[in-house]
Amino acid sequence: MFDFSELRLPVIAAPMAGGPSTPELVAAVASAGGTGFLAAGYKTPETLREQIERLRGDIPVFGVNLFVPGPPSDRAEEVAAYLAELRGEAERYAAKLPQPDPADRDRFEEKLDMLEREPVPIVSFTFGPPPEELVRRLHRVGTHVVASVTTVDEALHAERNGADTLTVQGTEAGGHRATFHVDTPDDEVSTIELLVRVRAATELPLLAAGGISDGIDIANALRAGATAVQLGTAFLRCPEAGTNGPHKDALIDPRFAETTVTRAFSGRNARGLRNRFIAEHDATAPASYPEVNQLTKPLRAAAAAQADQDGLALWAGTGYREVSDDPAGRIATRLWEEAGSPVPGDFARN
Ligand SMILES: Cc1cc2nc3c(=O)[nH]c(=O)nc-3n(C[C@H](O)[C@H](O)[C@H](O)COP(=O)(O)O)c2cc1C
Repeated sequence: MFDFSELRLPVIAAPMAGGPSTPELVAAVASAGGTGFLAAGYKTPETLREQIERLRGDIPVFGVNLFVPGPPSDRAEEVAAYLAELRGEAERYAAKLPQPDPADRDRFEEKLDMLEREPVPIVSFTFGPPPEELVRRLHRVGTHVVASVTTVDEALHAERNGADTLTVQGTEAGGHRATFHVDTPDDEVSTIELLVRVRAATELPLLAAGGISDGIDIANALRAGATAVQLGTAFLRCPEAGTNGPHKDALIDPRFAETTVTRAFSGRNARGLRNRFIAEHDATAPASYPEVNQLTKPLRAAAAAQADQDGLALWAGTGYREVSDDPAGRIATRLWEEAGSPVPGDFARN
């Protein structure tokens, strides 16, 4: 079974659902000696399969990331109130709000069945511990299982369920917080602080995710016990990324002066560039996923079609100012060289 310490370049293209993650992005970082994840979230099993097939054969090591569906929330009233609040947005973008479907599991089971029948080297889970039975099924077909965690408790839970490696995601990270429970508030613990805490609690290999944008960040993450670093925002403007144009532009537009964590777009906490939609809806969005995500989907699609950055989820980590347009392989190699091309274990031994 694959092991992250085998990577020649311990830099990983993080899974980024909604467009940015592409087979080309994964292949570019893997060709430089690292690896990367396809994002299965929001994708049909058919599209996911096509993306996997584009990598299989050429790229020996890559991963697939899945969102673990949570229990249905009982916030129907709050969701209805939010729907009413979003009617003005629907008018603004000439979009139609859907009736939310709390039972939607994003075809999680079908995707897992496919990954069992047609295994990939690595599967990672976000929004919940990988269920024990699924870990067993993936291990039987030789797949390395990764769990994203945001607290020591989540790390220990994932370890009990059989995860082989943990992605330790600090508050700086762009996109969704990986918290197991939708209600969990963002505790604002940094990637380095969380790495130190999780390192003290488990011997499992750790991947550092969140706010890593230069060589110093990489060296610090390795020093705090990470085997490899997982970067999302740093790759958002690469030619290989599928990030939409308005999102790419916003990352270098001085009009967007800060990132913030909000539930406004999906009901789950996520970090993005602060824009009008967040300013108007952050305070009232209920902690209800996937319902809030379903409600805002047509609004986001219409805003993207109109290139209106104020209606889009502009996911970005705190390091977004360092973002580059270079090819992904070049970015991964440059950041690693900036870090002094360290040997991960050496830090741990010192
Ligand atoms: C646009 C975007 C989409 C993301 N989608 C996912 C996802 O599908 N699954 C996941 O586990 N994490 C997702 N994340 C989080 C990343 O995997 C990673 O934890 C984060 O990007 C690391 O922080 P950084 O952006 O500061 O590098 C996403 C992040 C971004 C920026």
